[in-house]
Amino acid sequence: MMDTITFDFHSHILPGADHGASDTAEAMTILHTAFEAGIETMAATPHFYPHRHRVDDFLKRRNAAYDRLREHLDEKTPKILLGVEVLICPGIDNMEGIEKLTLEGTNILLLELPFVVSEHTDELFETVERLIYDNGYTVFMAHANRYPTASVERMASLGAKLQLNLEDICSFGERSRVKHWLENGWVSAVGSDVHHDEKIFKKLKKSARIVSSSLEKINRPSES
Ligand SMILES: [Fe+2]
Repeated sequence: MMDTITFDFHSHILPGADHGASDTAEAMTILHTAFEAGIETMAATPHFYPHRHRVDDFLKRRNAAYDRLREHLDEKTPKILLGVEVLICPGIDNMEGIEKLTLEGTNILLLELPFVVSEHTDELFETVERLIYDNGYTVFMAHANRYPTASVERMASLGAKLQLNLEDICSFGERSRVKHWLENGWVSAVGSDVHHDEKIFKKLKKSARIVSSSLEKINRPSES
């Protein structure tokens, strides 16, 4: 029986792709630590900000960062899948190239909501709805614990799956929300959201115990 988290759905380990890992040495320390802790597959999900980035330039930079890192990967690093953490903005469903921002080999979009709650407008949620129902994407909501319950539940009611961060799963203050979301079957992915500090993987075992009822789903994030 599966008793640990093997899929890290959210990380910033590509040096030069965003403000995550600063260089190859730091990225390799993170990757080795993650692998040793039990992570077999890691989605590399640098930030994409629609108001700042153009899709093609962004992907060129991300892919070049991966190519540089790839030369250093060894048998003690997780398999890397290329992805993106997309900041959702109203109307983004019409953005040119959005279809290129899915997780490698899937139709999964990892979306983060704006930090400012006043920006969680009807227009924003209608955009999510169109992404899911008109455009056929599978939407995962990045680090759901960062947001008010109302926003999370609205995303879940639209069919978005929740991705939780290791840090939040282990937080005492988040215990009841995490339990509620697990009971509803909404938790479909777990991520380290690691930028620099590989110590986050120390929370893997405790997190695995807390999310054990959904482990199978978490370790095989799927489009359906
Ligand atoms: Fe992130």
